[in-house]
Amino acid sequence: MNNGLLLYCRRGFEKECAGEIQQLATDQEVYGYCVVSDNSGYVTYITSDLAEADKLAKRISFNKLVFARQMFVITSALKDLPSDDRVSAILAASESMPLCGDIRVETPDTNEAKELLGFCRKFTVPLRGALRKREILTAKEHSKKPVLHLMLLDSSTGFLGYSYPNNNSPFFMGIPRLKFPSEAPSRSTLKLEEAILLFVPKHQIEQRMHSGMTGVDLGACPGGWTYQLVRRGLFVSAIDNGPMAQSLMDTGQVTHYMEDGFKFQPEKSVDWMVCDMVEKPIMVADLMSDWLVKGWTRATIFNLKLPMKKRFVEVYKCLELIESKLRRAGFNYELQCKHLYHDREEVTVAVQIIK
Ligand SMILES: C[S@@+](CC[C@H](N)C(=O)[O-])C[C@H]1O[C@@H](n2cnc3c(N)ncnc32)[C@H](O)[C@@H]1O
Repeated sequence: MNNGLLLYCRRGFEKECAGEIQQLATDQEVYGYCVVSDNSGYVTYITSDLAEADKLAKRISFNKLVFARQMFVITSALKDLPSDDRVSAILAASESMPLCGDIRVETPDTNEAKELLGFCRKFTVPLRGALRKREILTAKEHSKKPVLHLMLLDSSTGFLGYSYPNNNSPFFMGIPRLKFPSEAPSRSTLKLEEAILLFVPKHQIEQRMHSGMTGVDLGACPGGWTYQLVRRGLFVSAIDNGPMAQSLMDTGQVTHYMEDGFKFQPEKSVDWMVCDMVEKPIMVADLMSDWLVKGWTRATIFNLKLPMKKRFVEVYKCLELIESKLRRAGFNYELQCKHLYHDREEVTVAVQIIK
């Protein structure tokens, strides 16, 4: 069988990614099965034909998938690509490809596969030219047309397919490339930076997170997340028993409270609350929904640290708890959850109360 969906995920999270796509596809009454290989960095969900896979690529909202970094429709599984003419073999396999506006030659995010990235980059050039000549790719890049994906497992094996630009990750391999800001006190600053990039649309960022706003950071030390708020001009209450980086305290924008994040109450409601405390995910989920329900904040980004087992079940249990508390309190809200590139054994959640 050659058709289905291909999803990239963090290496080691294939079972979670598979559990999730199986559930969401079944909800759409599209029946198929997952092919999972441990630590491969990807999962395929095989459908009976291309039309069924295409239906899923349109109906399953990519933003709803927690564990997938990218989702594309498989048009062909490629095997034994001849080393002297891979391009012709790929053209021959491109019959059912829609007209695409861009091309990404990728690999799964594993150390072994990443060795291929140099090859991917070089191979993109002749392949792009040949696909344009055949009118499988538009002559110029076209951001509204599907993206053609060639995912290579080695130089002769892989999958060919496409994703819809209004329902995919805009990033190569589904990974945003962020540069670590050298003045930030910890690498985990990249988690919040990625979360803001992903969860707050570019056209809303100025309005939703700007200079003069207030924020609380629960479990703040040494200050990587606080740094992201400070650099956007927020005044931050940093809650943690540990020490905060002096560079942040010197900005005059941070007040450090050596208190328990589960007991801290803000004097006035704040614009943002973020939380990176290492605690049981269900306890964090409960605390986050309390803050929202009590009106202490209207926007939050937080991490749920995952246990080693039943990670998929645990995430959905936490999301359900938050949603049921918000619904019961009569709130309209937007909730997003993603296993970010910079997350490890954790996922990141964003909730915004909508007026
Ligand atoms: C992963 S670290 C946070 C790193 C931080 N986000 C950064 O970017 O630098 C988790 C922090 O949560 C703090 N923490 C854990 N439980 C806490 C609690 N109940 N109240 C306050 N802080 C807590 C720990 O002291 C630790 O500094």
